[in-house]
Amino acid sequence: MKGTERAEQELKALEASALPAIDGASDPEALEQIRIRILGRKGELTEILRGVGALPPEIRREVGQQANALKARIEAALEARQQALRAALLDELAVREAIDITLPGRPIQRGSLHPITATLYEIVEIFQRLGFSVAEGPEVELDYYNFEALNIPKDHPARDMQDTFYITDDVVLRTHTSPVQIRVMEAQPPPVKIVAPGRVYRRDADPTHSPMFHQVEGLLVDYGVSFADLKATLQAFVDEFFGAGTHLRFRPSYFPFTEPSAEVDIGCVMCTGAGCRVCKGSGYLEILGAGMVDPEVFRVVGYDPEITGFAFGMGVERIAMLRYGIDDIRLFFENDLRFLQQFPAL
Ligand code: FA5
Repeated sequence: MKGTERAEQELKALEASALPAIDGASDPEALEQIRIRILGRKGELTEILRGVGALPPEIRREVGQQANALKARIEAALEARQQALRAALLDELAVREAIDITLPGRPIQRGSLHPITATLYEIVEIFQRLGFSVAEGPEVELDYYNFEALNIPKDHPARDMQDTFYITDDVVLRTHTSPVQIRVMEAQPPPVKIVAPGRVYRRDADPTHSPMFHQVEGLLVDYGVSFADLKATLQAFVDEFFGAGTHLRFRPSYFPFTEPSAEVDIGCVMCTGAGCRVCKGSGYLEILGAGMVDPEVFRVVGYDPEITGFAFGMGVERIAMLRYGIDDIRLFFENDLRFLQQFPAL
């Protein structure tokens, strides 16, 4: 009997020290240390349990039961404390890492198309609706395509009309989109009905001239094409782009690759014809060059001499200036947000 009492006291003492220690463990680490101290391989309760086998048989059963019951209580207490610590940690994280979803978000700045890009797309779309397809050519171009094949030989005075950036003697930054005409005609037989948008380069800089600008070339080749077709096509374009009845003015002009040739102006929308800085006092702004394709060009690409066609090349910046009432072409290329943000819907 005496042995039982001693064992009971030992168990009670262990319980009395273990349970408050478990409840007082402040973090999972401390709790684990307590578990090892009591239930580990050399733990206090483990030792007691191990000693049960050596007790006299009459008390072995009783002490064994009590020790196992205590082990169960301690395990339950450990488990409860572990859960409490985990819950407290989650609560703390919830507070510490809370996101206040009632705060207004930071506004995302939406980009928009550059006015030149938007204008270019719109021009091309109008011609696509008129049945033209889109062709492209290189910006770094052979002298042959930029000049020679367009009936502008090396010493031809027309080369002075276009101040050229030369890369080598035979390679230039294209000065216009007209070389695409040659590339397309070399690649396919007539009929041809294309527009060719893209960048072009010239030594040129003032309020209406930029060293890099955009053109949209047009080329229509078939039998029986007349100047009237050219006029009707361009009128259809400006009616669509600037509004029905927009006034077009055709002035006789000269291009080596068209005959006859014309430069085409529209009434200056900045001053509505009164004369201003943009139209240089004339009331008109030149937007494109055009004409009937010169038979010499057809000969160079090996087309039937009986074939006919018209071509035009329009300046996209000029058209955008007129559309948006901008009096200096350089504004397009300075990337000043105060300017660009005026075109949010594009
Ligand atoms: C040409 O470039 C011819 N290739 C156009 C052409 C094509 C004629 C097919 C006949 C047949 P021009 O140099 O005039 O022509 O330029 C055409 C248009 O580009 C001009 O009407 C003008 O609107 C625009 N442009 C010319 N130079 C500049 C420049 N430096 N900055 C902005 N726009 C320009």
